[in-house]
Amino acid sequence: MSHTTETRPRVAIPELYRKVAQGEKLVMITAYDAATATIVDAAGVDMILVGDSVGNVCLGFENTLPVTMAMMNHHLEAVARTRPRAFLMADMPYLSYHLSVEDTLRNAGGFLQRGAQAVKLEGGHKRLPLIKALVEAEIPVMGHLGLTPQSVNVMGGYRIQGREGGDAVRILEDALSLQDAGCFAVLLEGVPADLAALVTEELTVPTIGIGAGPHCSGQVLVFHDLLGLLPGPAPKFVRSYLDGFGLMTDAISRWAKDIQEETFPAPAESYILPDAARVILGRWRSSSRSGIQGGENQAS
Ligand code: KIV
Repeated sequence: MSHTTETRPRVAIPELYRKVAQGEKLVMITAYDAATATIVDAAGVDMILVGDSVGNVCLGFENTLPVTMAMMNHHLEAVARTRPRAFLMADMPYLSYHLSVEDTLRNAGGFLQRGAQAVKLEGGHKRLPLIKALVEAEIPVMGHLGLTPQSVNVMGGYRIQGREGGDAVRILEDALSLQDAGCFAVLLEGVPADLAALVTEELTVPTIGIGAGPHCSGQVLVFHDLLGLLPGPAPKFVRSYLDGFGLMTDAISRWAKDIQEETFPAPAESYILPDAARVILGRWRSSSRSGIQGGENQAS
């Protein structure tokens, strides 16, 4: 019996560790559907995250709190159908890991059954029993510390974390305890670069940074931010490599103009009736005209 059912080799955790050990940085990006997954995988990223940022960037919510398991499963399934080479992860949405260990295991296990290779969840010491249970159930977990968007109401906004009082120590201690609980990596969001550097130095598992400076083991950005797909200024930590919003709105405006000027669709963009069908249609038209003249088609 063969244990290999997939034709394309997928990136797995040992390969991520090997890259980091060789001094390479890990490249992670979000994707939410088959189109975005195909693009990022073709670009050769190491890791794809179906982030709960889908709520903000695709579903029109103000924050990630309304995102449900049903929504995440829908988007994860679309990404998984493309069978990416990159390591595929799914974000545990708000309330999917807050109610009970059993609930958490069912939700995270469901992600793996849909093609994810790991899950990510937000929070430090409070999450340790859950993380241990997930790891026990063969579910790889990436922790997420610092600016955790699901805590927006507790943080009082999206603020850089780890700058006040003992916050930096708390983040460092949380990172160490996530590692001890079995997390295979820790994402650091919105923390000072020197704190992220220290955490990266102290941990043996990789760190992935977003708004956390250059010293993490890897970097992640949201697809829409990287490609400038959203209107308005991007946050300071984002580097947009494309004015996607400008390019796309310009393309659609040019198409609308071509429609008005009747240059779209051109003959080359249209299908032409074959001769035989044209003859039959011509005959039908002339017989129906003669019918009208003879009064056959008129209502009695
Ligand atoms: O949901 C998301 O996009 C994230 C980011 C930190 C990448 O968690």
